[in-house]
This record gives sequence, C-alpha cells and structure tokens, in this order.
Amino acid sequence: MVGTSVKTIGILTSGGDCPGLNSAIRGLVRPALDKYGMKVYGIKNGYRGLITGNAMQLTQDDISGILTRGGTFLGTSREKPFKNPERDPKTGKTPVESIIQNYEKWKLDALVVLGGNGTQTTASLLAKEGLNVIGLPKTIDNDLVCTDMTFGFHTAVDVATEAIDRIHTTAHSHNRIMVIEVMGHKAGWLGLYAGIAGGADIVLLPEIPYNTDAIAKHLKKRQEMGKDFSIVVVAEGALNEEEALLSKKELKKSRQGMTNSIGYRVAHELENATGLESRVTVLGYLQRGGTPSPYDRVLSTQFGAAAMNCILERDFGKMVALQNNEIVTVPLEDVAGQIKKVPLDHKLLKYGKDVGTCFGIE
Ligand code: F6P
Repeated sequence: MVGTSVKTIGILTSGGDCPGLNSAIRGLVRPALDKYGMKVYGIKNGYRGLITGNAMQLTQDDISGILTRGGTFLGTSREKPFKNPERDPKTGKTPVESIIQNYEKWKLDALVVLGGNGTQTTASLLAKEGLNVIGLPKTIDNDLVCTDMTFGFHTAVDVATEAIDRIHTTAHSHNRIMVIEVMGHKAGWLGLYAGIAGGADIVLLPEIPYNTDAIAKHLKKRQEMGKDFSIVVVAEGALNEEEALLSKKELKKSRQGMTNSIGYRVAHELENATGLESRVTVLGYLQRGGTPSPYDRVLSTQFGAAAMNCILERDFGKMVALQNNEIVTVPLEDVAGQIKKVPLDHKLLKYGKDVGTCFGIE
C-alpha cells in the first residue's frame, strides 16, 4: 500500500448517462482501494445522493466487470442543488447545506464528479463553498469547453454512424430522402462527426442556421447527377435562418405545439420543396446506451487515473481534460456555465464541403 494523507473520497455521476462512466469509475476506484487503501463512497444518483446522504462504501466487487458496461452503476440524476434554495421541511437545510453536512459526515478528503456542463458548473460552485472537488468530463455531446474530447462522445458517433450506414442502403433501394436526427443538445459535434463518417449529403447543425431552398437546390443537383436518394443528418438543436433571428424566448414560443422533433419538420420541408419522398429516423437514446467503444474505455480510464493524481497532489477545483492528446487539468471555474460549439472555421466543415456535403446553406 502506498502512503497518502488522503483517506476518504467520494465519487458520483451526474446528468445524462453515457458509455464510459463505469470505466472511469473503475480507473479511479481500483487504485484508490488497491494501491492507496482509501475508503471510497459511491454516491447514488448524482447530486441527489449527495443531498440526501445516499451512498455506499465501494469494494473491489462493486467495480469488478464494469469496464465494458454502459450506463452508470451509481445511478444519475439532473439534480441542480444551487438552483433550489428551498429548505427541506424535515432537516431544515437547503440542498447545498445538506451537501456540506454529508461531505463532513463522511469525512471526505475529495469528491470526484463525472458529468457534463451542468455537473461541472455545480462542481465549480461546490469548490467555492470549500469542498475539494475534481471534475471528469463526460457527455455524448462533446460540448464541454477546455477539453478536446469528453468520454461517451466517441461511442455515440460510432452508434450514429452505424445507423447512417444501415439507412444508406435502404435509402438507395427506395430513392428516398432519409432524415436521421441525432442528439447533441445545442452543439453540433455529434451531427458533424457522424455526418462526415457516414457520408451524409446534408448535415444540419445548430451552429449553421439552414435555408430550405439551399438544401432543395443541393438535392436537385444530386438528382440531376442520377442520385435519387439522399442522407440528411439533423442535429436535434438545428434551426433555420428565420429562427436564428429570434430570441430564446421567441424561439420557444414559435415551437410551442410542435409535437414532433426537428427531424420531422426538416423531412416535411424537404418533401414539399423537392417532391421527393422522405422518411425520418430519430436515433434518440440508442446513442447513449450500451457498451463503450475501446476509445472511450481508454479515455475514461485515463481520466480516472488523472483524477487520482489530482487527489494525491491535492490539486482541487480542477477538471481533468484532454488537450492536444495530453491529459491536463483546467480550473473548474473556466468550464462552468460554458458550452463548446462547433466553430464556423472548424476544419471538418471545410473537409466536408470539399467532399460535397451541404451544411444547409449555399
Ligand atoms: O446531454 C446528453 C443528452 O443526451 C443530449 O444530447 C440530449 O439533448 C439530452 O441529453 C437528453 O436529456 P434527457 O436524458 O434528460 O432526456
């Protein structure tokens, strides 16, 4: 056993789940137990368990066989403790006060939180409250700033690409426009990567408001070239040029009553504009479930190990990140409240255009 002043740590997973969470937990907890003899609390259901005091002391058995398992065995929630200042009628405490109380009760020397934007924002605020927090970046959206990659993203790209490949063959047989809606929240990373990997003809991203006429023109050009089918990848956050001029509130209002997701609207618009038959596939939670790709297993294991380094060096208030293929740490407050969108000069947009992909504008 290697000696360290850190005796007890807590770990939780928060926000939407993704493949790679269990492997990241393993990357941290296995050395914590085996090599450093630490006591580790696995906190259940994200920040909710931290508020209610729901945790279990982890053993080697708990983390055995989880490397390849999707989801998170600790459970997760989208609990945002700082958004709710109300006192619990039973304890008389606010969620943040309960968190601090449990942190002290468990005698935590460090708390490691695995999550996306909301999670890291909360982590940053907890660090300001004096807790020793370390963040690990996960999300299929890849929209966390200060890191080139989040774990979960690579697997989601794999899943979406395989779906596009499969839809490609049926699109070809039926001469249809096939619209495939992918997740990604307000960022287009998943759509961009899966669209390029799947050879999509049209890729619509939130960062580039689309113009239906420009897309119809592109589809007609394909028809003239004898290509009667097309693959259209739509990120769930995509919007058209008119919508891009609206405020957040106005956009929400204009979409009120829209029962179907954006992919259906795009399919309808393109069918009207081109006369071509169209079909829609919304990939949804398929992209978040199942086995992590080898890349995500390696990345999340590295992130887990880097979190352990931070703990040993007592380097708190940081998020582990990947920058230029190096594992680094960045201040949590640099990450809090930010979204990493696809920059308009991103090289993949250029390469995509070079191979004939239309990004929804001329
Ligand atoms: O952040 C991951 C993500 O899957 C987004 O791509 C999507 O918009 C959102 O979560 C869905 O959230 P929920 O699980 O709350 O439906």
